Amino acid sequence: MTHEIAVIPGDGIGQEVTPAAVSVLEALETVDFEFVEAAAGDAVKAETGEALPQETRDIAADADATLFGAAGETAADVILPLRDVVGSFANVRPARSYPGLDAVQPDTDIVFIRENTEGVYSGIENEIVDGVRTLTRVVTEDASRDIAEFGFDYAKQNGYDDVTIAHKANVMRETDGLFLETAEAVAAERGADYDTALMDALAMHLVMTPEEYDVVICPNLAGDMLSDLAAGLVGGLGLLPSANVGEENALFEPVHGSAPDIAGEGIANPSAMVLSAAMLLDHLGYDEEAGRVRDAVEAVLESGPRTPDLGGDASTEAVTAAIVDEL
Ligand code: NAI
Ligand code: MG
Repeated sequence: MTHEIAVIPGDGIGQEVTPAAVSVLEALETVDFEFVEAAAGDAVKAETGEALPQETRDIAADADATLFGAAGETAADVILPLRDVVGSFANVRPARSYPGLDAVQPDTDIVFIRENTEGVYSGIENEIVDGVRTLTRVVTEDASRDIAEFGFDYAKQNGYDDVTIAHKANVMRETDGLFLETAEAVAAERGADYDTALMDALAMHLVMTPEEYDVVICPNLAGDMLSDLAAGLVGGLGLLPSANVGEENALFEPVHGSAPDIAGEGIANPSAMVLSAAMLLDHLGYDEEAGRVRDAVEAVLESGPRTPDLGGDASTEAVTAAIVDEL
């Protein structure tokens, strides 16, 4: 069986790390892929006026899964609608520290389960009068239930014991109140243990005692910020993959952006993108292959070569070749 994968490299280092993930997937002899490349981001907008051409939407909608690199200034115009195209309601962001890397917190293994459709990223912003602008924070029981069910199921399926529900219901009583009460109801239905945490204090605890957390279920903005914070604990954005999961379709992308400060130099760390491809393999049911890819990335992180963000001087291509060799 051949799996059709939409490949959208995007801008900046997206163009450099996406081919790395494709070459790792191509190196797996046990799975057949057909890659269909499509354009999105600043460059295609400059050319055509559209950051996410209809053709790209169609390719992502029809594919079995999508690999996305990163977009630049147009990121919101690309990734928000693309998440919509694949119907994704859950953003899964694992942050792990790896042996041999000089991480701020070497005992981190946390998966952020981020609500991916609403909250302050509802997109409902207005200028009501000159000098006053508002944002509507939308929280629905349906989306809160979907993300909580996904989070508790994810914890169980992946052998994680501790589930934390992040919120700020003491201040945002209606919106986060609904998020929290819905997530707690889901936990009660499942007879699952959980903790709740105010998201600001949680940020501090994640820095000081990350080993106490496994799965953290978050509203949209909190998940975005806390997972980037966790990236800092484990060695930087070059290490964090993510999955945008829907009922039937899914999109996989590194947590990082187009990194204009290093784009074009050929030194971007491909690990986040390759680990995103491992999440794609999981999603398609190739658990064994996903494990092999993770092991290969881990082995190269430990022994090198490493890119400059991890203190090395190797190129993206050299690291990718080492990962493929390990496989
Ligand atoms: P960024 O993630 O692009 O870069 C932040 C820092 O991390 C930079 O110093 C960069 O060099 C470093 N970095 C990131 N990925 C790396 C990698 N694989 N290897 C080595 N170093 C890496 O975030 P920033 O600077 O806030 O945004 C840059 C552009 O990316 C903006 O135009 C933003 O809109 C866009 N962006 C796009 C996203 C997406 O497409 N999903 C997500 C975040 C930002
Ligand atoms: Mg972000």
